[in-house]
Amino acid sequence: MANTGKARAYTNIALIKYWGKKDDDLILPMNSSLSLTLDAFYTETTVHFDETLKEDQFYLNQTLQNPTQTKKTTRFLDLVRHEAGITTPAIIESTNYVPTAAGLASSASGFAALAGAASLASGLELDLQALSCLARRGSGSATRSIYGGFVEWQMGSNDLDSYGVPIDDASSWDLAMLFVVVNQKEKVISSRDGMKQTVATSPFYSGWLESTAKDLITIKEAIKEHDFQKLGETMESNGLKMHATMLGATPPFTYWEPDSIQAMQFVAELRQEGIPCYFTMDAGPNVKVLCHKSDLPKIKAKFATIFQETQLITAYPGPGIQLSKGDFY
Ligand code: ADP
Ligand code: DP6
Ligand code: CO
Repeated sequence: MANTGKARAYTNIALIKYWGKKDDDLILPMNSSLSLTLDAFYTETTVHFDETLKEDQFYLNQTLQNPTQTKKTTRFLDLVRHEAGITTPAIIESTNYVPTAAGLASSASGFAALAGAASLASGLELDLQALSCLARRGSGSATRSIYGGFVEWQMGSNDLDSYGVPIDDASSWDLAMLFVVVNQKEKVISSRDGMKQTVATSPFYSGWLESTAKDLITIKEAIKEHDFQKLGETMESNGLKMHATMLGATPPFTYWEPDSIQAMQFVAELRQEGIPCYFTMDAGPNVKVLCHKSDLPKIKAKFATIFQETQLITAYPGPGIQLSKGDFY
């Protein structure tokens, strides 16, 4: 159908974190970051521009969203409409195959899919770089969900030079990520508010920025050298440093729950036993464990002794965004 666009985008988990903006409107980050796109969690979105509508209608998981919930989506579509020279309202239908707002990166897959579907529906012909810039305006982490595998979000300095760059599709690696879902409820402090509060008030923030620039160089070396230990150690320490900045904020806050700490300590124990694996956490209580594919069954079985099977989700490196004007599912 004309005026319709569809997209499927996968979530990504940052190994080197984005935490803080230097421009809230353009969503320009304070530092470059690097992620791995995953195959287990994704969003599918359809956008249809329709002259007969009075305003945008946003359905998330088959539920019509109220005006407050729709505001971010409408503001994002306004960017697309402006670029395409139209004012037509749209019906947006999105399904998250990932818990929403739980620290499992729904904003990354959500806004990447919305950018893809909306640009297609509006007739904008964007290359992947421009699509990455557009997705960034919805949510910073969405910048990286345009591509599969390892992706660097180069911070840049303006709207046009802050985008994702594919580094390695990870197909020559033997990687897996185990998600330990401690709590999939919506978080109390959104990523957006959490990072803003941290940049504004945490005395640890300057130390974070300094060390994250070094971590990015180290992790890119590790990717080039296929050095799993270096990759994992750098990822783990970078994530911990990000979480440390939040304890220094005013008022202080943390996304950790008791089970998050238990899972992190368990990873350290598994390493003591000689199983190479490393953790990271985002703006939420859930723990992600990076390991070799071949070690995954063993690691999952060990985790199953302290967590329920339903809390353990396996993921592998995932693909980039998939776009269609018609049906491809
Ligand atoms: P997460 O850890 O899930 O990324 P965030 O706090 O970063 O949590 O972002 C959650 C917000 O992202 C939601 O409240 C909503 O505004 C937006 N979002 C999530 N999924 C979608 C989607 N499919 N389409 C549009 N916006 C979405
Ligand atoms: C901790 O991209 O969700 O997951 O740009 O405000 O939408 P907004 O925030 P978001 O922040 C992600 C923070 C993080 C780290 C990361 O993904 O790099
Ligand atoms: Co997010």
